[in-house]
Amino acid sequence: MSVLRSSQWYSGQDRNAYIHRAWMRRGLPGHAFDGRPQIAIANTASDLTPCNSHLDEVAESVKQGVWEAGGVPLNLPVVSLGETQLRPTAMLWRNMAAMATEEMLRGNPVDGVVLLGGCDKTIPSLLMAAASVNLPAVVVPGGPMLSGTFRGVPLGCGTDVWRLSEEVRAGELSERDFLESESCMIRSRGHCNTMGTASTMGLLAEVLGTTLPGTAGLPAPDSRLLARAHDTGRLAVEMVHEGRRPGDVLSIGSFRNAIVALAALGGSTNAVVHLLAIAGRLGVPLTLDDFDRIGADVPLLVNLQPAGRFLMEDLHRAGGLHAVLRQVQDLLDPAALTVTGRPLVDHLGDAEIWDPEVIRGRESPLRPAAGIAVLRGNLAPDGAIIKPAAASPRLMRHRGRAVVFDSIEDLHARLDDPDLDVDEDSVLVLRGCGPKGYPGMPEVSNMPLPEKLLKQGVRDMVRVCDGRMSGTAYGTVVLHVSPEAAAGGPLGRVRTGDPIVLDVENRRIDVDIPQEELDRREPSRAMLESVARPLRGWERLYVDTVMGADTGADQDFLVGSSGDEVARESH
Ligand code: FES
Ligand code: MG
Repeated sequence: MSVLRSSQWYSGQDRNAYIHRAWMRRGLPGHAFDGRPQIAIANTASDLTPCNSHLDEVAESVKQGVWEAGGVPLNLPVVSLGETQLRPTAMLWRNMAAMATEEMLRGNPVDGVVLLGGCDKTIPSLLMAAASVNLPAVVVPGGPMLSGTFRGVPLGCGTDVWRLSEEVRAGELSERDFLESESCMIRSRGHCNTMGTASTMGLLAEVLGTTLPGTAGLPAPDSRLLARAHDTGRLAVEMVHEGRRPGDVLSIGSFRNAIVALAALGGSTNAVVHLLAIAGRLGVPLTLDDFDRIGADVPLLVNLQPAGRFLMEDLHRAGGLHAVLRQVQDLLDPAALTVTGRPLVDHLGDAEIWDPEVIRGRESPLRPAAGIAVLRGNLAPDGAIIKPAAASPRLMRHRGRAVVFDSIEDLHARLDDPDLDVDEDSVLVLRGCGPKGYPGMPEVSNMPLPEKLLKQGVRDMVRVCDGRMSGTAYGTVVLHVSPEAAAGGPLGRVRTGDPIVLDVENRRIDVDIPQEELDRREPSRAMLESVARPLRGWERLYVDTVMGADTGADQDFLVGSSGDEVARESH
């Protein structure tokens, strides 16, 4: 057995080794320090991240597996981001959480880590951290909650909040009924049960090769999740002995596989910024255009909200991730490895579809080509994205007059004004919502529609924004416009009344005015006045160094890896 990293702390007779061991001996036997793997459990359990509050129980199962395999498990609470609670947006702290976890893994005597996440930003931040410190790492996704129902109909987290609140504004649902649905939405422990960002990133963690195969998508209350957590603890010890690190698992092939799966699943647009950021930590040359090139022609096979009808519990019942991956197996990189040391495709076995309503076969997809489309044009020279699976086919080619909002407050103040000059062909434009502008690139791009149009029965319009959209949301929304308005992007120079042209087939998003005029215009003063100017703390560091959405919205100084070495002692 090779000498482990933790031996640099614990082995020997000198004063420093004495100190490192002595303070850890609160119940740990002497043989805990005899050279066996020290496995951190990076645990995002928090009462303020309700989707992850059950992870302490999952951690107990991981611990048993680690002990059983001859390792020492160590609970390491790390920064946790609750998507629904944090203002102005959990995304503002994804990179901070990743940085803090990276530093705690590097600074502590650990040889490997089990990553416990669930809610939207938590698995991305954990994987970014693990990639940068490059210690053996394996994810246990916390799993989705069970399906809730309201008046006999399943309620999808997030998606149905958007739908029901629009029904109230359209006058089709009473406020009382709306509020009654509130207590029906969250039926159990676990994260959102739609194909939102949490479900997407949990499943993609497995496609990337970073979970024990067969774990992602298990509902949070399912007993098998704890059994998998136990097995993952054992696997973490094995990975340390074998020296199997994120740099060995996460190849360009793994990311390509994730893009294929993202399309087939109808997954969240947020996966784009998360996968780009994780790849950036490893030096894997993934680009925005890869999402279109690899994913655009992949068929949509999974009928889950927001692109479709069902929920995560149904996906699991219908055969789960492996049944989906088997349908697109010919598109997967057969060499891409997993934490087991074997390729992903080796683990798919003969996974079958048990309910073809939920998971379609390759021959009868929900849509023949469903991946994220990457748009460019004079409105988005560095790119923008749209999720055709969640958009209206009739709007994929559209020309309309811009109705511009300079901030989310401006939008809320004017949207429902009966005198607002807007019709169903208008294009709603919202800016100042990128990483630097808001700050943190919030999920505001799926702007609500003007009340007077909702009452006329309008349910979708073209919307353009430099922010993100909740993975649970839907609509014909052009997202992640880059460069963002606050960083000098042309979106900041569009004016109400300008004709906007969306042409998804030709991958274009343009404002149809002479280029010289667009270049000559000053950025909107109202937009510039609304953008963030933080004076201290993380927000200041964030705004000063965050990069564009087109490269994953990571901090410029966090791209790449620092490895696991620490040269100097603490005493
Ligand atoms: Fe946590 Fe949706 S709010 S996953
Ligand atoms: Mg979200």
